[in-house]
Amino acid sequence: MRLSDCHNIDDFRKLAKSRLPFPVFDYIDGAADDELTKARNTRSYDGVDLVPDVLAGVADIDTSCTILGRKSALPLMLSPTAVQRAFHWQGETAVAKAAEKFGLWFGISSLATRSIEDIAAMTSGPKLFQLYVHKDTGLNTNMIERCQASGFDALALTVDTIVSGKRERCLRSGFTTPPRFTPASILSYATRPQWTLDYLFREKFSLPNLDTHVSEGSSKAVSIAEYFNTMLDTSMDWDTAAAIRQQWGGTFVLKGVMSAGDARRAVEIGADAIMISNHGGRQLDGSRAPYDQLPEIVDAVGGEIEIICDGGIRRGTHALKAMCSGATAASGGRLYLYALAAAGQDGVERALAILKDEIERGMRLMGVTQVDQLTNDRIRQRTLL
Ligand code: LAC
Repeated sequence: MRLSDCHNIDDFRKLAKSRLPFPVFDYIDGAADDELTKARNTRSYDGVDLVPDVLAGVADIDTSCTILGRKSALPLMLSPTAVQRAFHWQGETAVAKAAEKFGLWFGISSLATRSIEDIAAMTSGPKLFQLYVHKDTGLNTNMIERCQASGFDALALTVDTIVSGKRERCLRSGFTTPPRFTPASILSYATRPQWTLDYLFREKFSLPNLDTHVSEGSSKAVSIAEYFNTMLDTSMDWDTAAAIRQQWGGTFVLKGVMSAGDARRAVEIGADAIMISNHGGRQLDGSRAPYDQLPEIVDAVGGEIEIICDGGIRRGTHALKAMCSGATAASGGRLYLYALAAAGQDGVERALAILKDEIERGMRLMGVTQVDQLTNDRIRQRTLL
């Protein structure tokens, strides 16, 4: 299988699986417990049908919209995801450059393998920083100040990762950051020589936004669960969120809000947006899909705050459905991560080209020429048998 054989996101997943050692692939692909929520995040889009209009004159269409005060070429964002250097040697650089080329928002994680400064220097496109609140408050302040100095467009505070989800694939594979060869997994590295050579001989893995304060994850290998459970501040609450919003002073997003009540509190503390998200099903398994939760959150806070529907997006029509249901934008991580892992920047660009094409085609077939015409009267809840 080659990159040119990839025609949808699942094809990139297959290609990534063939190219990555299984601990690395399973870290990307895996989720919590029985992975029910991860599967539902995508399946929830099947619960709604599109109702197209025809004869609408769709020669010229405009797929752009405004998200968090900046123009986006599509109603789609690339969610922040961690440790991208572990997936492909180009890491976050590939995603930043591909996002800029396609005129899209992207984000980097606190656990990014490129520095805040390097990312800011390589793209003028819209970018957000995903903050994990650490026990080390000096580290939190350091990251916020670096983002301010570098001109990041938004800060997204992660609120769904107060402790790590139970990621059983990682327990079995022993995946750590940085990746480590273990007796149980060494064969999988040996049978994926390209990944292994790139990992060993190209730029050294590091977490440059954290390693000024903590060695875990950079020079000291730990599992992601260990990292979360020892480094992050479990006492984080609404006062913490309000204080961070104030300290940051710029566009502020809460990532991982699921309930209408919390969406209301996000409005009250002055957040600019929420990302409805269950962290790709990697945290609380059995929690509801973002798309299923969207209508009640739109009812509660629509028009008062931007609402980004994060997770499960694999098709252009999924983004269109999210827009019809009242989202400001759709967003996702794996939708570009499989492609990054499979083929670096070329892969991400191909995945984005496919999604752009699907969104354009979907809009034409729906009979809409602008994103704001994607309204609630164009969808119907499906009665599942
Ligand atoms: C994860 C974090 C690091 O889900 O975002 O693994």
